[in-house]
Amino acid sequence: MTTTSAPQLPCKLRFLLFILSILLDAARRPNGTVNRRLMSLFDFKASPSPKPTNRVKTSDVMVDHSRNLWFRFYIPTTTDAAKLPVIIYFHGGGFVFFSANSKPYDDLCKRLALELPAVVISVNYRLAPEHPYPAQYDDGFDVLKFVDATNFEGFPSELDISRCFLAGDSAGGNVAHHVAVKASDHEFSKMKVIGVIGIQPFFGGEERTESETKLTKALLITLKRTDWYWKALLPEGTDRDHPVVHVFGPQSDGVLGKKFPATIVFMGGFDPLQDWQKRYYEGLKKAGKEAYLVEYPNSFHGFYCFPELKESSLLIEEVKDFIEKQSAPH
Ligand SMILES: *[C@@H]1O[C@H](CO)[C@@H](O)[C@H](O)[C@H]1NC(C)=O
Repeated sequence: MTTTSAPQLPCKLRFLLFILSILLDAARRPNGTVNRRLMSLFDFKASPSPKPTNRVKTSDVMVDHSRNLWFRFYIPTTTDAAKLPVIIYFHGGGFVFFSANSKPYDDLCKRLALELPAVVISVNYRLAPEHPYPAQYDDGFDVLKFVDATNFEGFPSELDISRCFLAGDSAGGNVAHHVAVKASDHEFSKMKVIGVIGIQPFFGGEERTESETKLTKALLITLKRTDWYWKALLPEGTDRDHPVVHVFGPQSDGVLGKKFPATIVFMGGFDPLQDWQKRYYEGLKKAGKEAYLVEYPNSFHGFYCFPELKESSLLIEEVKDFIEKQSAPH
């Protein structure tokens, strides 16, 4: 591990991350609630664009009004949709912040749709602490079942949902994993989940790892923050060894369904969460699963949201290769 605690970053980007960290800290109240009003002032939302802008068209699809469960649907207009893989995406934000229409996530999903290319379904799952575990995972799985039934307006009938990938960054990477576990036990009518893409997925445990204790000056992620997020997510009376946090920990049986798909994990050298991500990858291997680990030594948590960073483009290339490999007949 490197000894400095921050990567070389352009000044503007560093400033942006600094401001974001301050705002997210201010929105987290010491009594465990979130100041949603404050959040709404700087969590800018992007509207759907049914007419393609920059060669991607987007629309919002309601799944369940009663819990405001919906997703944003991204279709690139550059390729025949029938030929594209489908990515079901879960945004990050510690299970607490952001939504499928938050500007940085709308930008990221547009980029994935256009550059991979792929049809992207970005899930607006419910947030903690107002909705603790397992709301996020139920929402994710219910979206899979909804898409499998393909009963919504604007669904291109030729779409090939036998090539589905579950993807997510940070907390969304955690949701993608657990939804994949549920999916691997389920008989869908047409859908097949053939891969998981974990972009700096958020896992943890009671133990403090070396990267967590050493990278104390990291951007966005510190122990104080991650402890708060886990507390917001977890049910009363549980701790961070809960299997949703510590996937291969002491409270988990470590068993993954026979159909649990191949997984690619992305890790950054300046991310305090990297040791947990590495253990996640090792756990998958130990469970006999096909798994890949990609490490970018100079990357911090959240690098993928910045197209100007070289690693952000490298990630898209890696994902492209992974999708191609999993799509080929085995
Ligand atoms: C938490 O603190 C906020 C702001 O001080 C207050 O409005 C809210 O009622 C408190 N909530 C609980 C559950 O204590």
